[in-house]
Amino acid sequence: MAILITGGAGYIGSHTAVELLEAGYEIVIVDNFSNSHPEAIKRIGEITNKPFIFYELDLMDQERLEEVFARHSIEAVIHFAGLKAVGESVQLPLKYYHTNIYSTLVLCEIMKKYEVFKLVFSSSATVYGCPETVPITEDSSLGASNPYGRTKQMIEEILQDMALSDPQWGISILRYFNPIGAHKSGRIGENPSGIPNNLMPYISQVAVGKLERLNVFGCDYPTVDGTGVRDYIHVVDLAQGHIKALERIMQRKGVDVYNLGTGKGLSVLEMISTFESASGRRIPYAFAERRSGDIAVCYADTLKANRELNWSADRGIMEMCEDTWRWQCANPNGYSEIELEKAN
Ligand code: UD1
Repeated sequence: MAILITGGAGYIGSHTAVELLEAGYEIVIVDNFSNSHPEAIKRIGEITNKPFIFYELDLMDQERLEEVFARHSIEAVIHFAGLKAVGESVQLPLKYYHTNIYSTLVLCEIMKKYEVFKLVFSSSATVYGCPETVPITEDSSLGASNPYGRTKQMIEEILQDMALSDPQWGISILRYFNPIGAHKSGRIGENPSGIPNNLMPYISQVAVGKLERLNVFGCDYPTVDGTGVRDYIHVVDLAQGHIKALERIMQRKGVDVYNLGTGKGLSVLEMISTFESASGRRIPYAFAERRSGDIAVCYADTLKANRELNWSADRGIMEMCEDTWRWQCANPNGYSEIELEKAN
């Protein structure tokens, strides 16, 4: 019996694949490399030294996806695959709605056909929109403010409806806060294409000298130092949360929703100074206008995941920065350097 991981070459998918293999699970990974790199697949094998199956395919290719279910005895699915750039989703909403929602529908239809009723879904804290209070609990009101976030919110609703219609489903919806860090080996990590949108990859590219300086978006938020506050979580803690969620749905039916965060908020300036200590490099920065759509403060109430999944995010912010830095130094151009080597 195997666990199917969609989007397993991506940032969170690859770290989860490693944790599953280390925990003794059999896995099958599918990925179309639309925003990931084959090198990540190779490195999952290198880190774990364990065998697994990989298919390069698009979830919307119903026939080929069905072949995977026909060929392997799939016990449960962890569904990471999807487009995730907020800015791009505003420019290309149809692409986001089509890809994220249609691929999930195809996947769920095939799961139902093959009687695989266990699903862990990769959602995001972005579904909360602008939170009324912090820390954010799972029953806070939802209101994603961009097409990317709305695809996550809509898929959550689809999964809820599906489980209502058929009590065989056991589904865990995981709302991630801000995943950062990398595997200790420095072999897999976040590999943004082009100029990063998110804070941590941006900081680390400034530290390594690829970008000149960081723009700090907003200095007048009602926070400890005027800059935005987020709940940064180590990607390996997050990956381990998936295993706990998987263990729980193996025993339970219905839908459960969990916040995966640390429960602590840190400001942009706190992140800069911690990264400076971890890397020994200076991070030049300048204050800039607020980024449209940004909120002041966002951090999780993690009690439900602590209690029901027996999980907590234990890695601290220094470790998150050190691990990011190790990955960044060892792979200054992410996985894309491999392509350059091959081309030469
Ligand atoms: C962003 C997405 C969110 C997604 C999350 C995933 C937006 C508007 N939101 O959230 O939907 O779920 O990533 O990780 O893109 N910052 C800077 N300078 C930068 C980049 C960021 O000052 O160059 C600040 C931001 O204003 C924010 C903090 O750093 O206060 C974190 O930003 P980011 O890493 O982009 O994450 P989110 O805004 O939380």
